[in-house]
Amino acid sequence: MTLPLYVFDAYGTLFDVHSAVARHKALVGPQAERLSELWRTKQLEYTWTRSLMGAYRDFDALTEEALDFAAARCGGLSPEAREKLLAAYETLDAFPDAAPALKMLRERGAKTVILSNGTARALARATASAGLQDLLDDSLSADALGRYKTAPEVYELVGARYGVTPDQVSFQSSNRWDVAGAARFGFRAIWVNRAGAPDEYRDLPPARVIASLAEL
Ligand code: LAC
Repeated sequence: MTLPLYVFDAYGTLFDVHSAVARHKALVGPQAERLSELWRTKQLEYTWTRSLMGAYRDFDALTEEALDFAAARCGGLSPEAREKLLAAYETLDAFPDAAPALKMLRERGAKTVILSNGTARALARATASAGLQDLLDDSLSADALGRYKTAPEVYELVGARYGVTPDQVSFQSSNRWDVAGAARFGFRAIWVNRAGAPDEYRDLPPARVIASLAEL
């Protein structure tokens, strides 16, 4: 069955978060890959801890804070490299399967929407620079709530905007923790497991696992 509303996580699902460091590998140095992993891990940790504490800072601020931690752990970064990485994060590459999948869904008559922890400003910038703006109907941001996924009220933004019940929503994320949160909320949650990662959150399984958005 083709569901009418396809909701996508942004960072890691449509946008390749590691493309920022990949672009500036030489400038970052030999620990570039480790730095990129740690940058992402810390950025996500801060979303969860700050949601639990009720001490919200927006995703742009957490991205910056996480980069500074990762840099300190990985031998430091020059001010030039730091600036370049933060600028690159604003214009991340889309995964190659993103545009064709969004186009195909739109041709099938589906609505395509982002639901992300990112700020509205950053999402608009990333979407435009990756050339996805005409393939998306809307972007919903957790920033409006001051809490991050996996808080149920973030997933609730979709129903509030479109008047649908959770079971009418196909939610795609490559982040298994996000799939768990979405499944718990009642979305038909699809795990985009590009990297072939082992499963987790076994009591909150995806409705479907795909290796590429081309399988939608
Ligand atoms: C997002 C983060 C989880 O886009 O990557 O919401």
